[in-house]
Amino acid sequence: MNYQLVIHSILRWAVVILGLWAVLSAISAILSKREYRNADNKVSLFFMISCDIQLLLGLILYFTGMWFDKLKSGVGSLDKSERFFAMEHAVMMIIAWLLVHIGRSMVKRADNDAQKHKRTLIYFGIALVIILAMIPWPFRAPGIARGWFPQF
Ligand code: HEM
Repeated sequence: MNYQLVIHSILRWAVVILGLWAVLSAISAILSKREYRNADNKVSLFFMISCDIQLLLGLILYFTGMWFDKLKSGVGSLDKSERFFAMEHAVMMIIAWLLVHIGRSMVKRADNDAQKHKRTLIYFGIALVIILAMIPWPFRAPGIARGWFPQF
């Protein structure tokens, strides 16, 4: 059993749930004009940490599995599902990870609480859309599609 893949597969739920939590509470905070609380910072921190662990596991899977070798064999020779894991999934998830990190530092530098919530919504919102689009959900094309949960 590939333990890194099992953890990477389960941890996607932490990323999705924490990301949704951060974005939805930013929307409700903007609408109700409430202050930026310690709890908002905690959710954002845990979202970032879950993305950090996914990046680390993803890089291990990428370089210890066949994906990097496939990329080296030439992009033109890859089929749709190979291109998804060798390029699209990895590159887009790294962009999402960067947005989460930039977003957190922009929130820290914001002048007021309203700006903190807006920046959370923009940076985390875009990152979450990318993450949701790039997860190999069971309804994706054959070859790309993986289970809702890891297959033991
Ligand atoms: C928020 C970030 C990420 C999420 C939510 C995520 C999610 C997932 C999921 C759900 C799978 C399918 C697991 C299964 O088979 O059940 C997967 C596979 C994979 N991910 Fe990620 N991933 C993320 C970031 C990354 C990054 C940054 C990389 C590489 C740089 C990466 C590399 C891979 C690879 C290579 C596989 C296929 C492993 C294999 O079957 O050999 N992932 N990812």
